[in-house]
Amino acid sequence: MNVARETISFKVNGKGVKVMARPITRLSDVLRDELELTGTKVGCNAGDCGACTVLLDGAQVCACLIPAGQVEGREVTTVEGLAGEAPLSKIQDAFHRHGAAQCGICTPGMLMAAADLLSKNESPSRTQVEDALGGVLCRCTGYRKIVDAVLDTAKGGKGGATVQTGDAVGARLAKVDGLPKILGSEIYGADRAPDGALVLRAIRSKFASASFTIGDLRPLYKKFPGLVRVLRAEDVPGSNAFGIYPTIKDQPVFADGIVRYRGEAVCALVGEAETVAAITEEDLPLTFFPSDPLIDMDAALDARARAIHHSKQGNVLTTGYVAKGKLKTGYKAAAHVVEGSWRTRFVEHAYIEPEAGFAERKGERIEITVSTQTPYMDRDEVAHVLGIAPENVRIIPSACGGGFGGKLDMAVQPMIAVAAWVLDRPVKCVYTRPESMASSTKRHPAEISAKAACAKDGRLVAFEFHGDFNTGAYASWGPTVADRVPVHATGPYAVPHVQASSRAVHTNAPPSGAFRGFGVPQAAVAHEGLMDLLAEAADIDPLEFRRINALRAGDETATGQKLEASAGLVKCLDALKSHWTRARAEAETYNERSRRKRHGVGIGCMWYGCGNTSISNPSTMRVGVSADGKLTLYNGAVDIGQGANTIMTQICADALGVPVAAFGLVMGDTGRTADAGKTSASRQTFVSGKAAELAGRDLRDQILKRANAGPDADIELMPGKIIVRDGGQEHEIDLATLDANDGGDVLTGEGYFDPPTTPLDENGQGVPYATYGFAAQIAVVEVDIELGTVRVGRIIAAHDVGKAINPIQVEGQIQGGVAQGIGMALMEEYVPGMTENLHDYLIPTFGDVPDIDCLIIEDEEPLGPFGAKGIGEPALIPTAPAILGAIYHATGVRLAELPATPDRVKAALDALAAETEDE
Ligand code: FES
Repeated sequence: MNVARETISFKVNGKGVKVMARPITRLSDVLRDELELTGTKVGCNAGDCGACTVLLDGAQVCACLIPAGQVEGREVTTVEGLAGEAPLSKIQDAFHRHGAAQCGICTPGMLMAAADLLSKNESPSRTQVEDALGGVLCRCTGYRKIVDAVLDTAKGGKGGATVQTGDAVGARLAKVDGLPKILGSEIYGADRAPDGALVLRAIRSKFASASFTIGDLRPLYKKFPGLVRVLRAEDVPGSNAFGIYPTIKDQPVFADGIVRYRGEAVCALVGEAETVAAITEEDLPLTFFPSDPLIDMDAALDARARAIHHSKQGNVLTTGYVAKGKLKTGYKAAAHVVEGSWRTRFVEHAYIEPEAGFAERKGERIEITVSTQTPYMDRDEVAHVLGIAPENVRIIPSACGGGFGGKLDMAVQPMIAVAAWVLDRPVKCVYTRPESMASSTKRHPAEISAKAACAKDGRLVAFEFHGDFNTGAYASWGPTVADRVPVHATGPYAVPHVQASSRAVHTNAPPSGAFRGFGVPQAAVAHEGLMDLLAEAADIDPLEFRRINALRAGDETATGQKLEASAGLVKCLDALKSHWTRARAEAETYNERSRRKRHGVGIGCMWYGCGNTSISNPSTMRVGVSADGKLTLYNGAVDIGQGANTIMTQICADALGVPVAAFGLVMGDTGRTADAGKTSASRQTFVSGKAAELAGRDLRDQILKRANAGPDADIELMPGKIIVRDGGQEHEIDLATLDANDGGDVLTGEGYFDPPTTPLDENGQGVPYATYGFAAQIAVVEVDIELGTVRVGRIIAAHDVGKAINPIQVEGQIQGGVAQGIGMALMEEYVPGMTENLHDYLIPTFGDVPDIDCLIIEDEEPLGPFGAKGIGEPALIPTAPAILGAIYHATGVRLAELPATPDRVKAALDALAAETEDE
């Protein structure tokens, strides 16, 4: 629609402004594009996520739903104006102290909704807070710390983070990089681009399987003068193929005549923003010839099915296998044998920040600023696509508005790289929400069959497992899932006789990739289901059954690895015992008087190998001091909201012996930081944390040596010098006398850590991980047996993290992981073509996430920094099994299909009732 621009006058953050805009332009676009108030974030442009919430005449609204014409003469307040003249408003201060912002992309919207509430209700109840903020989605925090922050503000409290007075490790410090997130000044992928940047819009297939042709483009260029270039497969200067594994580059930047999933890019329009947005499908000379897609694994595995990739006849991408002992021997010793089958569906990452970034060619080099979890992998992949040396590619991570594994794969990177390289002009790209959901990777749907046996005393004697994982059209992280699942298949239990196998199966579904757990959450549904069945068969309490079989230090895993130390599952279970006994008794008492609403309490356990499976997994960290005495941590471990910047700084600070406040930070920039590996697999605290510790110690050693001081000396950084105090003596290092390196530092400490692992042999025997996280969670649920609805009333989560470097961050990871686990258990199911937005695809909101009690267990890992291990993925894994166990306890129904939506629960209840009647 061609609507003329008009002058629109209104007040923003107390100041009058005039903008020239079409009255139908979204207020969010006016704020961001015309007024550069990018604190207002856009997550969906549909009023679903609430990230763009601002105050309009004091009341919260979604700025993406407000036409600019409607704000004429009115007053808008954005996060940038929330504090007025003060450095921080009370609510911002509380968010900072409580760790209420993780990635921070939802934070401006949350703050504005909270400000609206507090302006009308000075002391709201918890329910009122949840209702008032309920229009804003958060994918990171599980909402609990946000509620705590709002309630604390209302009370005028000062809870949350403590001021650091001693050691940094273990302190409840606020995020070192937290303030920009709550002030709205943090820069995410969509927030900046060079002046004159062209815009890239990918054109994507609506068909899951098709061939296609692109006809004569000349009429298109003629009709749209603002269109600079249509990029196609033949325009890729290097290799039109990328992929995670060096030996599997199977995904094209632009499909080359064949599309293998709905959402695949076939070409890209590059030009002026308004032009590329205005071009319709009808304008494009694109012709598709669709064929029947192979969407589910049964179809793809059928002997008559065509191969989705010629090199993968049979559509099996790869397999995984672990075998130990002799199953026959195990079954001979069995008193009880149980088995079952489980099925899970696609789960969408639903990070609130869609994929975004920009690229600039600089001579024979290219620089890409992008939201990513893995800058060095991006660097190498972009180099491969452009056909240039990796050293000529620089990746500069923007702030990352949520990743959870989904931003380990390239999205905008190769397209904007090709465009900027070919056109020699800066090019930006921001995915729309439907585009993000259609084209990005998902959690693998799984079909699992498993069988387990125990002796009379409850000890496990045999375990069999097979899982098929729908890896979709391209390999992505499918091999990682296929490798990791058999290793974890038994769960965190000692079993003498094991056989576990897996397959990653190609289909015409979106590529499945990395999503918080790499297949282990799906496997946990099966192994915990078996533990419940066996506990019942053996007439042993489910928690006690798990305790009997829990892996302990000195035990051998299914891969034959002896756990040397730090195996804290028993401690987790012991911490939960009293909660378990009380909650089970309360549920049973409740159920004696309630027929329709039934309460149940379930338990789930997990273990998770921290880091890559059986391969080298190194991290290098550096810390430097400049001639003027500035200390900088060069942190290559990208912070995606989980707190890596803070954790690395805390570790390095204690290793070096200076306060956290002394540090400046450079994060993830491949031009300035060493390769710390990807932010995934719960590896950064353990692996990069150790490297940060070693870097701090290295720099400390150099400083003490220069001062000829003993190991216990104190170090103080001052402008132009370092003071070293040692037993009453004071030494001064004059930094101006030292030579500077290319980065301007005169002293540099470096740490390198590669956790010890070994390859797995043909039976999957070896040391796949140097250490494992352990956890157990209890879920309390209420099931409405008339409606089939399930409400989670409480989660109690005990996690062995080795050492909590920062308990606020650990709690945040647990609560956020639990919330995603609730989503996986009860509501999240991605269906290509049907749930490509945040109103059809449901993720947990405030009302879906209950109180989550975090019990932090510290069974120290000798290899880790100050004893620490990982927590990111472990937080999610036990939640769904615990909820399924609770549903069984409440109703007698064992669900084998996730998510346990009301229709599935109701169908299972009806089937159970019919069975009972027949008996
Ligand atoms: Fe809420 Fe990341 S902190 S979406």
